[in-house]
Amino acid sequence: MKIAVIGVGYVGLVTGVTLSDIGHVVTCIDVDPAKIVKLNQGIPTIYEPGLGALLQKNIEVERLYFTADHKKGLEGAEVVYIAVGTPQREDGAANLDYVEQAARDIAANINRGIIVVIKSTVPVGTNVHIKNLINQNTIDGVRVQIASNPEFLREGSAIKDTFHGDRIVIGTEDKETADILEEINKPFNVPILKTDIASSEMIKYSSNAFLATKISFINEIANLCESLGANVEEVARGMGLDHRIGPDFLRAGIGYGGSCFPKDTNALVQLAGNARHEFNLLESVIEVNNNQQVLLIDKIMSRFGTIENKKVAVLGLAFKPKTDDLRESPSLVMIPRLAELGANIIAYDPIAVPNARKHLSTAIEYTESLDEALRDTDFAVIITDWPEVKTIDLSAFSKLMRTPVVFDGRNCYSLDAVKKSAVEYYSIGRPSHT
Ligand code: UGA
Repeated sequence: MKIAVIGVGYVGLVTGVTLSDIGHVVTCIDVDPAKIVKLNQGIPTIYEPGLGALLQKNIEVERLYFTADHKKGLEGAEVVYIAVGTPQREDGAANLDYVEQAARDIAANINRGIIVVIKSTVPVGTNVHIKNLINQNTIDGVRVQIASNPEFLREGSAIKDTFHGDRIVIGTEDKETADILEEINKPFNVPILKTDIASSEMIKYSSNAFLATKISFINEIANLCESLGANVEEVARGMGLDHRIGPDFLRAGIGYGGSCFPKDTNALVQLAGNARHEFNLLESVIEVNNNQQVLLIDKIMSRFGTIENKKVAVLGLAFKPKTDDLRESPSLVMIPRLAELGANIIAYDPIAVPNARKHLSTAIEYTESLDEALRDTDFAVIITDWPEVKTIDLSAFSKLMRTPVVFDGRNCYSLDAVKKSAVEYYSIGRPSHT
């Protein structure tokens, strides 16, 4: 199949590279010429394990191309994927400007009926709207078919998730389109669910909202465990053994972040509101998360009273390990709060420091060395459970810090190990060690 992918952001690039890897000839199109130059040289523009090797391999065998020219990129394409961003608008709804622009670019550059697939996360009703927009703007009355094909990839394991996913969802009202897309996706060897368009659009939002709900639920349980003297890890283990609940996404912590959960939960609340439906449950999930992201501040203040001029090591900036992505990371609310309270901050992250310098306006010191971050500090706050942080010898805290007081937002260490160390330790939903 000859395929075009519009947008080489996270979703588009992974989609283009993996579709070419299973044998299709793929041209990725993006308006950013600098990205195109890099990608044509086989240099990945995002941090994603395994992506670079597949990129180079498929460029070499001439199955993968990149261009900033829509006409050239769409020439001869039988299927076009739209994978541009749908950022959050101020009112919480998804901004569809880029999707609509991609639709107009498709309409202006095709001369025969093709299949348009929307990969971007879009509100229910968008696929039909985009199909109409394209069909109203094509030359010579050319008509396209549309399909919704949401992505379920996690940052940091996107390549693995593509080849070992739980399902591929194809939403379309046209049987032939469904069959063609099923054929395209077959080599991934992942179960395929064919459904109507609205349900497919809804599956994406509902899945992310449900996962976010699981996290906020366990975080509420964690906070309750602290008051009642239970240990949330034991509780989650006991709950997860029930196959109806399952063990995943029950890790209590400093709250979820990233480019998806916060944006998609807000968009679903908006979508519900537009349909005159109050999604109270999801609104609470969001509120619990907002509180969870700053929960450690209360613990820090009740331990120290004041942190004016105290030196604090912030361990981890990214919203989760194995990514340099800072979007909606708890670090973005924790660091300004610590600074407001007068702390002097040194922040460590193995790869997200360059991004943090760009996006975090608070004046702080940065380091890519864990030891340097801890040296002579009064306390440490763990925001990201990087392997480097999780596997540190706990004696490093007492050796390097002025006072080894650790506030762990990711429950990185076993309480047994902590008890054997000289660390004063506060975590989430577990007894403190003082
Ligand atoms: C999420 C979903 O997991 C993907 O299925 C989905 O495709 C993607 O959003 C998307 O819509 O594009 P991602 O944001 O990359 O993927 O990251 P996750 O691994 O799901 O983690 C999200 C956040 O939840 C992180 O901040 C993580 O630390 C937190 N989390 C996760 C917890 O606090 N506890 C858990 O048990 C699991």
